[in-house]
Order: sequence, then structure tokens, then C-alpha cells
Amino acid sequence: MEILHVSAECYPVAKVGGLGDVVGALPKYQQEAGTIAKVVMPAYHTKFRESHTYELVHQGGLWVGHAWFHFNVWKEDSNELGFDLYQVDIPGLLDTPGVYGYMNDTERFLGFQVAVLDWLNEWQHQPDVIHCHDHHTGLIPFLVRFGYKYSRLQDIATVLTIHNAQYQGQFGWDKLYLIPSFDLWKSGMLDWGGSINPLAAAIKCAWRINTVSPSYMEELFTSANGLEALLNAERGKATGILNGIDDKVWNPGKDGMIAAKYTMSSQLKGKKANKQHLCETFRLDPELPLFVFIGRLVGDKGADLLPEIIGRSLFENPGALNFLILGSGDAHTEWMLQQTRQYAGEHFNVYIGYNEALSHQLYAGADFLLMPSRVEPCGLNQMYAMRYGTVPIVRTTGGLKDTVTDFGDEGGFGIRFYHASVGDVCHAIGRALELFHTKTKFSKIRKTIMQLDHSWDKAAQQYLDLYTSLK
Ligand code: ADP
Ligand code: GLC
Repeated sequence: MEILHVSAECYPVAKVGGLGDVVGALPKYQQEAGTIAKVVMPAYHTKFRESHTYELVHQGGLWVGHAWFHFNVWKEDSNELGFDLYQVDIPGLLDTPGVYGYMNDTERFLGFQVAVLDWLNEWQHQPDVIHCHDHHTGLIPFLVRFGYKYSRLQDIATVLTIHNAQYQGQFGWDKLYLIPSFDLWKSGMLDWGGSINPLAAAIKCAWRINTVSPSYMEELFTSANGLEALLNAERGKATGILNGIDDKVWNPGKDGMIAAKYTMSSQLKGKKANKQHLCETFRLDPELPLFVFIGRLVGDKGADLLPEIIGRSLFENPGALNFLILGSGDAHTEWMLQQTRQYAGEHFNVYIGYNEALSHQLYAGADFLLMPSRVEPCGLNQMYAMRYGTVPIVRTTGGLKDTVTDFGDEGGFGIRFYHASVGDVCHAIGRALELFHTKTKFSKIRKTIMQLDHSWDKAAQQYLDLYTSLK
């Protein structure tokens, strides 16, 4: 069986968040399990692209509305990712340094999807399944079914993985002319709430849909940023498959990005050395428990709560803990965190920006990882943290609920709370402080979480079952 993943991100080629991690890992594990898995993504101007060599496999041209673009499909030569990687290069549209956030994102990802389909249309052999990820690839299941020029592709099964239903890629009907011609009687398949909605179109048209955790799937039936009724209607083809983590990349015993490598048996010494290094870099006291947050500074992640959480925790527990934040996002939250540094400087530091190596150092050097997410479809941070012996403090929602139990419960190993509120998070931090000072219990929990199996093997099999059910 051959699967073609279509995605806007793929680690280490281009990553903004967990989507990149998933698309960089799942195909590798699928290959190992005997499925042929390939990835096609845009050719942004990233370091990876500049430092690797490629073979040209297809050339074409396409219209995005009234503009004509030439495009190339390149196949990466080395195969170092563990699967075939194809990149679509559309000069003037996709050759940007970043992934998202451009005024013409609608046109950029539309051009990408059309180029992928044009290429598939002419490819000598076709995949069994086109596996789309998120709204940037959401028009593909629609065009495969109803696009006039893609009738050759009609029998290829399509799967949509929803990594985050908050983002749907809507645009107005005035931009209909951007979409290659299709059976206009089917226009309703594109519509949701009076706009063209690529995520909704994919939910309607894909043969199967899944979310990245079972709990998130359940939550979407009642809270899906406007898509609840649609998801309930399509319930029969929907399922939740929990993400794994790439334990070849996220392994404290082999991680070249951290200050000192360690395994479960050397975790005490190893984590201490990493914490020492981190605290020296950020001028924090290594003797105090270290709480970190890593992620996009947006409302979904509860990042806006951080300044108050830090202020209140330091007020309630003077001189008893440190915080370190790594992230970027909403300008106001970034500014608030920088302000917080002025009064909590000895016990708090922040790195505004994206820094892959530093994220590894935080997972390795921290004692606790905070995730006050309002919405968390899966969340990978908590799994990375646990792999590195860092205890996650999470809101009981989505994938966090499926991966973290509370140490107060029988066999539990993390800290959970229910509301994305400063009070609940501070209470959880209080429990963490107590745990930190109960040395034997804390050490036992660290060892437990380092041994948990979050590998991709199980999910790779679940995806295979899903593909097989399509035939
Ligand atoms: P999401 O995809 O919603 O942002 P996930 O938990 O699935 O959340 O994945 C986030 C990924 O992005 C993790 O690999 C995390 O380490 C990484 N990450 C987020 N922000 C940063 C940052 N500022 N610097 C480095 N890595 C980051
Ligand atoms: C999205 C979600 C996150 C999930 C990731 C990978 O970005 O916000 O929770 O872990 O996709 O599936």
C-alpha cells in the first residue's frame, strides 16, 4: 500500500508546531511497518532546502485566478528522512522564508494543492491513499471528487487528519475563481457558514477523517469552532488516533542538542547537569524547582495566563521557584512577559522566538512543564517532557487528558487541573512544589514517565487499519 501525505509542514524541513513533528515522524514509522509512505510539501526557502540536493521530477504551470505560475516538483536525493520527500516549488508564491502568515496564504496553499494534483494527474503510478493534513490541504478531497481535470484521480482514497479545528482556512465566495473548474452543482460541498471553508470541505469529501487524539474527537462534537453540526453529521467516518513521538529525535540518551545526555538510570545526575547549564544561561538559581512553558504564545495554549500565573506563584511562594518561558506569538503576551522580567528577574526569564535546540534543553533541564491549554488536540510537549523526565502539569482536555494521569490517583504520574484559570494553575503549581520536596516520590515519578511508551508504532498500525478499511 502506498500513502502520499500532503502537508504544509514536515520536520526537519519546515516546522512551526506539532504538525511538522507528526508529518516528519509518522511516514518514517509507516515505512518501517512495511507501508510505502511519501510526503509532499511546499518548497519554502528554508535552511534544509538550501543544504540538500534534489532531483527534478515534474514541471508544470498553473493558474491561481488570473495569475500564471510555473512550478517544479523536486525529490530530495539523500532519503535521510526515512521516506521519499517531494517539494513543490512555485516561484513567486511558495518561495517564502516562512510557512504561514502571508497576506496571500489562501492563494499560496491553493497553488500548492493544485500543483500536487496536476503532478499526480501525470504521474505514471498513483498512491492508494492521499492523506491530507489540516485545512491547507483541505480542498484536495473535494477536487479529487469533483474537479473536471482530476477525474483520473477519482478512485484514490482520501483521508483528512484534523490537527486543529480552530483553523479552517475560510475565504469568501468572491474568490471562487481561484479554484480549478468543477461541477458547480457541488458548490455546496465547499460551503460552511456562507464562506468557502477548506476544512469543512475536507470533512465532507474525504473518505475518512480523524483527529489526533480520541478525547479531542469527542470534544469536537460539541465544540469545534462552528463545525459541530457538520462533524456530527459525518460522525460515521470519524475517529481519533493518538499521536506518538519520534523517539529517535526525542531521546535524552542520544540527544546532541542537550548539555548532558542521560538515561533513566542516570536521570538524577543528567537532569541536574542540564538544569545547571540552563540556569546559568538564563541567570536562575539551579537549586529551586524549575517550571517551564514551551509553545506558541496564543490563547488556545493559555499563554495569556502566564504573566499572572508567574506573578501570583512568586508572591505566594517567595524565593521558592523559577519560571522559564520559550515561545512567540501574540504581541501583547510577548510584551507582558518581557515586563514581568523586570520585577521577577531573579526567578523568571523568557526567550521570545523559535529555537529548536533550546526547546530540547528546556525539556531536559526543567522539573515541570506547564500546559494550561484551552484547546489541545493532542499536544506533543507533554510527551516530550515525560520522555526527558520532566513532570507535566496539564489542563484536563483533549490529548492532554489521553496522555497524562494525576499522581494523586492510583498509578498516576503527572499533575492535572480542570480550568484554564490562574487559580487552578497556581493550585497545581503548589502541588508540584510539594511533590518536588518529597524526593523519593518525585524521583520515582520521573523514572516512571521516562519509561512510558509513546512511540509511533501503535498509531502507525491504527492508520494502517484505517487505510485498509477503505479498500
Ligand atoms: P502545536 O502544534 O499546537 O503548537 P504541539 O504540542 O503539538 O503544539 O507541538 C508543538 C511543537 O513545537 C513541539 O515540538 C514544541 O517543542 C515546538 N515548539 C513550540 N514553540 C517553540 C519554540 N518557541 N521554540 C522551539 N520549539 C517550539
Ligand atoms: C496541532 C495541535 C496540537 C497537536 C499537533 C500535532 O498543532 O494544536 O495539539 O499536537 O497539531 O498533531
